[in-house]
Amino acid sequence: MTVRLAPSILSCDFGHLDREIRAAEAAGADWIHVDVMDGRFVPNLTLGPIVVAAARRATRLPIDVHLMIVDPDHLLEAFVKAGADRLSVHVEAVPHLQRAIARIRELGALPGVALNPHTPIENLRWVFGDIDTAVVMTVNPGFGGQALLPAILPKIEALAQWRRAEDRSFEIVVDGGVDARNAAAVARAGATVLVAGNAAFGHPQGVAAGLAALRGAIAPRA
Ligand code: DX5
Ligand code: ZN
Repeated sequence: MTVRLAPSILSCDFGHLDREIRAAEAAGADWIHVDVMDGRFVPNLTLGPIVVAAARRATRLPIDVHLMIVDPDHLLEAFVKAGADRLSVHVEAVPHLQRAIARIRELGALPGVALNPHTPIENLRWVFGDIDTAVVMTVNPGFGGQALLPAILPKIEALAQWRRAEDRSFEIVVDGGVDARNAAAVARAGATVLVAGNAAFGHPQGVAAGLAALRGAIAPRA
């Protein structure tokens, strides 16, 4: 299975959201990653279900919503109704994680759990069979354009190894600072999906050039 690419709209031109998303789809994006921030769990404030609904109107690609918010339970239904295909909550922000995962699935979306850089993968132990997505943050969440933390690569490897050992098939989404220089190492570590904001929508020549550079970096060597 080739590693898939999920450009993050956090780095796109929000004045032309529809055009940007359509360009990403035309350039071969596999998912569209949408970063929701509440200014409390992370020191930034972004968007809500209304923007997911706008993205839904722009593409048929899976919309992968990353909830960097405290107490997400009361907003899960609104994001699914807006068109989210995947909803990932942060283990650090949710006291009743299994309940949130079950609720996302009950609403008809695919549940995921995101781990901040310092958070051990063991936090997934008792929900390992319940998730469709594990998001490994390779930056401290809140902003695009940060540098990937290389110390987290062994964490990706450990999660991929554990996933193989338990014969699970959830996606390992690596999120933060992924670019054409480190994408191959992140893929080798075990990522199944690479999120990219700055390296995709933030690419100087546009999202098509950004995705091409990422795809070229992870393409198997002939
Ligand atoms: C950071 C977000 C990431 C970010 C990725 O809090 O979760 O998805 O937008 O952007 P880059 O690729 O620029 O780090
Ligand atoms: Zn994200």
